[in-house]
Amino acid sequence: MSSDPLLQPYKLKHLTLRNRIIVTSHEPAYPEDGMPKERYLAYTVERAKGGVAMTMTAGSAAVSKDSPPVFNNLLAYKDEIVPWIRQMTDAVHEEGAAIMIQLTHLGRRTRWDKGDWLPVVAPSHHREASHRAFPKKIEDWDIERIIKDFADAAERMKAGGMDGVELEAYGHLLDQFTSPLTNDLDGPYGGSLDNRMRFCMDVLKAIRSRVGEDFILGVRYTADEALPGGTGKSEGIEISKRLKESGLVDYLNVIRGHIDTDAGLTDVIPIQGMANAPHLDFAGEIRAATNFPTFHAAKIPDVATARHAIASGKVDMIGMTRAHMTDPHIVRKIIEKREDEIRPCVGANYCLDRIYQGGAAYCIHNAATGRELTMPHIVPKAETRKKIVIVGAGPAGLEAARVAGERGHEVVVFEAASDPGGQIRLTALSPRRKEMMSIIDWRIAQCEKYGVTIKYNAWAEAETIEAENPDVVIIATGGVAHTDVLSKGNELVVSSWDIISGDVKPGSNVLIFDDAGDHAALQAAEFIAGAGAKVEIMTPDRSFSPEVMAMNLVPYMRSLQKLDVTFTVTYRLESVEKNGNQLIANVGSDYGGISKQRVVDQVVVNHGTIPLDDIYFELKPKSTNHGEISQDELIAGQPQSVVRNPQGQFQLFRIGDAVSARNTHAAIYDALRLAKDI
Ligand SMILES: Cc1cc2nc3c(=O)[nH]c(=O)nc-3n(C[C@H](O)[C@H](O)[C@H](O)COP(=O)(O)O)c2cc1C
Ligand code: SF4
Repeated sequence: MSSDPLLQPYKLKHLTLRNRIIVTSHEPAYPEDGMPKERYLAYTVERAKGGVAMTMTAGSAAVSKDSPPVFNNLLAYKDEIVPWIRQMTDAVHEEGAAIMIQLTHLGRRTRWDKGDWLPVVAPSHHREASHRAFPKKIEDWDIERIIKDFADAAERMKAGGMDGVELEAYGHLLDQFTSPLTNDLDGPYGGSLDNRMRFCMDVLKAIRSRVGEDFILGVRYTADEALPGGTGKSEGIEISKRLKESGLVDYLNVIRGHIDTDAGLTDVIPIQGMANAPHLDFAGEIRAATNFPTFHAAKIPDVATARHAIASGKVDMIGMTRAHMTDPHIVRKIIEKREDEIRPCVGANYCLDRIYQGGAAYCIHNAATGRELTMPHIVPKAETRKKIVIVGAGPAGLEAARVAGERGHEVVVFEAASDPGGQIRLTALSPRRKEMMSIIDWRIAQCEKYGVTIKYNAWAEAETIEAENPDVVIIATGGVAHTDVLSKGNELVVSSWDIISGDVKPGSNVLIFDDAGDHAALQAAEFIAGAGAKVEIMTPDRSFSPEVMAMNLVPYMRSLQKLDVTFTVTYRLESVEKNGNQLIANVGSDYGGISKQRVVDQVVVNHGTIPLDDIYFELKPKSTNHGEISQDELIAGQPQSVVRNPQGQFQLFRIGDAVSARNTHAAIYDALRLAKDI
């Protein structure tokens, strides 16, 4: 038996967990009609297959109708969920993993204009900044109803074969009662800690009396809100002890912080550039104070940190949740001594930011996650070995190379630069975003494993490619910054990529015109303002940086506000003129009737990229398909069969930003779904 601390079994009451790694509760927003159907099932089972000890499915499954889904949550208040849950628990158990589900009432952390349009309830009228609803102050009959709803939902989960349920008590109704900041009630549910904890205890008692002892019951709760006037650490330790002493729960899942604002949420679930394992020591303190089974997750992205968490005795079970979105087979790779092959979570938080924008959770660099029904995590070997030539070693080109290599093809990549990475290499120049480089490094290592040849400093001409005698050519040349958007003065502006790459020195009084709304503008602003310049970011949009999304915006704002960068929304830069050594920026508005000027010494335009596609158009007439991709075959997962030119020498495809400016995930998805069928 292995001596690896992570691979030791753990006895949780009557359950034996096969190792120490769990996926903590999270809602990837895959439900259909509020039910965990085939897609949800496939996603969950893939992680069980990968060897995780326990998967906690469904973050924040709703127990009541007045806890309507804000990110496509499961509806645990419906009886029809039981067979769907049963299908999932049977399949997960078959793979040897345990499975639990998280139940909640969101309280004020939702909106009244969702679901059945019921008023939002909370123990005070205080509004949560993130979801903006002004809650109704909860009444006695609401409390009774919701306690019963929790017990009913838990009973449904037990009937569905779950090993247990976890209650969410950080930022949701349960801890809205516990926190002095959100509880304005008089006794019996307000005032003293006894009273503030009464609701949670009543819910636990109601559930326990319904489900019996042979069912795991846990609480995921904040043991330190880290907010003035809120539950502090000493009260958090007292809460932890009381939960243990109640005899009603089987483990504690420790959170530190608060989630009512984007900034608070980002400190609870840190993203790239923030410290790894920031709350692990705190979880260890709770374990030491209670001597009770303790679980924890918060940016434990790699196996070494997870191993430390267990070996040091800080926690009993360690969560690697986003890490499993990136690579569902972590435990299997540890067992097979292939840790170095684990696809690394880079903390990009594309997954989590998307659910708050109403989308499904996708991993920035694993396009198979959440698409298990159509995209493989392990790419099968091709029947016939082909020669594949790829132009460009950015994320799209390298993903195509990795997948084609894993298929067993002979693969040659031409890269004009001296290093791989394309735009990601530039992105990673920002110290806060350097984890992005692992997207490239992991692919380079995989390409080596599969014998892919990568030629650097190699500008591919049509003849170079033809000389390789390829069966398939994939153009993944990306794009170049597109700044040609003004009616006059395009030659006077620089691009955000010029600044980020260091090719152009920052000015001292700078206007950044950003209508792409992506990271590049903010990254350039940080660089310019960091060099001591005055910076204004202007956008014609209603809000700035819409593509950056909530949690990714937090570190930028923390930096840019300190640097006094200003934001101007709803104005459009129209033209630029030279005036001595200054620039005059002429500004209008899409709403009309406005004409203003700014006098600056540098104008930066961020307008995405324009495809670098010369080589594609040169090769097009020589290909069998004239570059055409059958969308139907692509979507159906079938090999490409378009023939427009039977005399052609090879199939030709174009992917990523070489087609149109999109993002890293889109580039990688383009590559995976094309190359997996070649
Ligand atoms: C897409 C997504 C949805 C999540 N939803 C929930 C949720 O509903 N309830 C919850 O307690 N945590 C939720 N989480 C937080 C995770 O359980 C976990 O605490 C967090 O991702 C930090 O752990 P990690 O760094 O290992 O990913 C979610 C995380 C992700 C990525
Ligand atoms: S999107 Fe980023 S944070 Fe989320 S799982 Fe993927 S790599 Fe990790």
